[in-house]
Amino acid sequence: MTADTSTASLAFTVTRNPAAVEPARRAELLREPAFGTVFTDHMVGITWTEQDGWHDARVQPYGPLALDPAAAVLHYAQEIFEGIKAYRHADGSVHTFRPDQNGARIQRSARRLALPELPVDVFVQSLRELIAVDGDWVPSGADQSLYLRPFMFASEPFLGVRPAHEVSYYVIASPVGAYFKGGAKPVSIWLSEDYARAGKGGTGAAKTGGNYAASLLPQAEAYEQGCDQVVFLDQDRNVEELGGMNIVFVRKDGTLVTPASDSILEGITRASLLQLARDRGHAVEQRPVSIDEWREGVASGDIVEAFACGTAAVVAPIGVLKGRDFTLEQPAGTLALSLREELTDIQYGRREDRHDWLLRLDA
Ligand code: PLP
Ligand code: COI
Repeated sequence: MTADTSTASLAFTVTRNPAAVEPARRAELLREPAFGTVFTDHMVGITWTEQDGWHDARVQPYGPLALDPAAAVLHYAQEIFEGIKAYRHADGSVHTFRPDQNGARIQRSARRLALPELPVDVFVQSLRELIAVDGDWVPSGADQSLYLRPFMFASEPFLGVRPAHEVSYYVIASPVGAYFKGGAKPVSIWLSEDYARAGKGGTGAAKTGGNYAASLLPQAEAYEQGCDQVVFLDQDRNVEELGGMNIVFVRKDGTLVTPASDSILEGITRASLLQLARDRGHAVEQRPVSIDEWREGVASGDIVEAFACGTAAVVAPIGVLKGRDFTLEQPAGTLALSLREELTDIQYGRREDRHDWLLRLDA
């Protein structure tokens, strides 16, 4: 499978949903949507076959997929996805954030999962096509957005273990508010010592369903322990990331430190927050951080703050780290929330977009 990063576009057919939700009902659904529970009227679909490449690009009514029970994804989990948001600005316009980065990442994920690469331009176009029909679903309340979920999977009915010759790409969209109940209040983290999320040479850097499947049991353990989220270590006891967020530490001299590893997901939120911090004059270090460095850093006062970040949750300060035989009270600082404010101000058009990160989707 060859990389295709050329400028490309596909002609989309549009089939309107005859049962689209009425505006009054939609307004009700947009009032306080719980994460990932409400979906818009339409979805994008594009098919890939070994013979014809990417074709049959369409906007169609949102609804169940007809999948052959032998579809390879159901057996061998050949699947990848993305998460990106559309934000409504005060003037009503709709913008998304660094879609080229998500487009490049889904190509990297595709390479690792032996799936075909969708050209970045077609990825961005797929978001535009969905907003063109479902733009009214982008909510305008505080901290609200339309979460876009592009995903790709092996739809070929075949039980042999090899890369599929037929693949489906879809984009669905879900209006969302704050990911964590309680907004930006500090979250508690459970240290998973019995389970790993990824391994050296594995699929940790790809956004693929299997990584999330591997995180579910430790995440359930976290809930049992009264924690919101789980954090994973690598085989050398270096901190990797949370089930669905990257992690950043703040040292007392203002340096931000975040794990470098080829088995974690390279977060676009993290990269953006680190850039904003550099712009403010903070030093940034990307290097392995052991769990002992975290614990000792808090004890000595060297680590003054820790936070998690990702598209869905934005920035969540970490308040507590709980392990099998210890509980660490992570002091709260002000940097995480101040960076969160700056980032969301840019995303919602309240502050100058000096890095040219926004792309208008509805024009
Ligand atoms: N790590 C994992 C495992 C994730 O699922 C996510 C969320 O997408 C992130 C990190 C953060 O990535 P991003 O900031 O691009 O959303
Ligand atoms: C995201 O932040 O987009 C994620 O994918 C995290 C989680 C919802 C899987």
